[in-house]
Amino acid sequence: MKWNQTHALVTGGTRGIGRALVDLLVAKGAAVTATGRTLASVEQARQDCPAAHWIVYDQSDANQRAGLVEKIQGKGINLLIHNAGVQQLHDFTQSEVLQFNTELETAINFTGPVELTKSMLPHLRHQANARLVFVTSGLALAPKRSSPVYCANKAGLRSFAKSLRAQLRHAQWPIEVTEALPPLVDTDMTQGRGRGKITPQAAASQIVRGIESGKDEIYVGASALLRVISRISPSLAEAIMIKR
Ligand SMILES: NC(=O)c1ccc[n+]([C@@H]2O[C@H](COP(=O)([O-])OP(=O)(O)OC[C@H]3O[C@@H](n4cnc5c(N)ncnc54)[C@H](OP(=O)(O)O)[C@@H]3O)[C@@H](O)[C@H]2O)c1
Repeated sequence: MKWNQTHALVTGGTRGIGRALVDLLVAKGAAVTATGRTLASVEQARQDCPAAHWIVYDQSDANQRAGLVEKIQGKGINLLIHNAGVQQLHDFTQSEVLQFNTELETAINFTGPVELTKSMLPHLRHQANARLVFVTSGLALAPKRSSPVYCANKAGLRSFAKSLRAQLRHAQWPIEVTEALPPLVDTDMTQGRGRGKITPQAAASQIVRGIESGKDEIYVGASALLRVISRISPSLAEAIMIKR
């Protein structure tokens, strides 16, 4: 990956892992376009990181997806990092579950990146060193009890990335597909819960190293151990994770 010949689009770049990715890619000399959901977060990010080009983009909204594709036409994006995501904690045995919008969660975590990929492929096909990166989760390997829809979304996105990679290779389209599986990272998403979190900067640096070495799958931090356990004993991996 030649960073000075890379123009990255990072969704969910205003905070957390996405923001750390934006900072690192800018420092490496890449051109970076990044998105956030709200105008307020995008304006703040624009102030904090003026080297990146910032766009407001709600991944759950089909019109905004089309608008994003229009706005980045002709910019020569050759690295698309699908990072934006949300996690709702909900218990289907409790009546409060009725208040959660599981369709919205799925639109942000799964349908959004799939649809944006569909729109971007004709463009990426003609770029040098084109790569799609899907930020899934260690939870794509084994789900936890407290966020069933999120875990299903991430497992679904992992499966999508695998099939897409195979289709692109079969068709000999010159676009690589990478999946990055972070462990628990210290961001707003995990505020007030979990132990042993790594920093967003540590997660971003492992993801960027994985991209540099052209990996299909990047097991970040403790996700690497979870992967080993899940290969030796899928039921043990599930037993460890499901209690969370
Ligand atoms: N944190 C973890 O432990 C962990 C572990 C494994 C995987 N991941 C995955 O890593 C990715 C980043 O997570 P994070 O912890 O860094 O999250 P975060 O700190 O909560 O930041 C979420 C980012 O996504 C954007 N976003 C939220 N809703 C959106 C929507 N509807 N449309 C477009 N963008 C939206 C936010 O924009 P605004 O600032 O405008 O709201 C923000 O930039 C996610 O895909 C997450 O599932 C996280």
